[in-house]
Amino acid sequence: MRKELRKAIIAGNWKMNKTRPEAATLINEIKPLMQNNGCEVVVCVPFTALVAAVEAVKDTGIRVGAQNVHFEASGAFTGEISAAMLKEIGAEYVIIGHSERRQYFGETDETVNKRTKSALSGGLIPIVCVGELLWEREANITEEVVSRQIKLAFAGIDAADAAKIVIAYEPVWAIGTGVTATNEQAQEACKLIRDRLAALYGKPVADSVTIQYGGSMNAANAAELLAKEDVDGGLIGGASLKAADFGVIIKAAAS
Ligand code: 13P
Repeated sequence: MRKELRKAIIAGNWKMNKTRPEAATLINEIKPLMQNNGCEVVVCVPFTALVAAVEAVKDTGIRVGAQNVHFEASGAFTGEISAAMLKEIGAEYVIIGHSERRQYFGETDETVNKRTKSALSGGLIPIVCVGELLWEREANITEEVVSRQIKLAFAGIDAADAAKIVIAYEPVWAIGTGVTATNEQAQEACKLIRDRLAALYGKPVADSVTIQYGGSMNAANAAELLAKEDVDGGLIGGASLKAADFGVIIKAAAS
């Protein structure tokens, strides 16, 4: 009902896959599968493939994103990359707080908040990931967990900036497992997120924010998930590495 108020965004999270030539090849395979203006398409590639990806997407409408950004502008932070560095390369989006970063690299709600602020001030569009672990769903605390993640990720961010953020609801138990959330579970969590945003910033901002679902979204289940009222797009892992499958998902979002 309110879908016309926001942009549909299909983003591929390539994770730690693809060298520069491989990235160019995959993008060249995706190009003919683009649907005119129906939805925004983003490829979030490894840092090392960013330059090649920006080159390959020229004149295609495909956007390029990174998979992380540091919260300081510069300095003694070995191994980190700043928002200005990403912007200068031509990246437009950046994934923040993916569950793999929370799980394996000590990412917390606090660092997610700091990275989100640095992305915004650097002119990048953050794709902020939230989602519960399996035991949290089984313990019936999904609502509490996701509400906390949203509240802390948006702490100190004003309404104008909040409206620029994309949120990806990714239940951790659905990532890379082949177990997808049901359409109803995805809708329920995305609606919860929109309600939290409405409480923080008011309904117009909440209605304008793109909320994606992620977690074993694929060519077979994308259309049904994307048909849900509060599911405005997808953050896709495995299926984004296969052009044909990614193309089917783009088509589902565009229609
Ligand atoms: P899969 O689509 O491989 O489950 O990964 C989802 C994901 O983590 C996207 O960020």
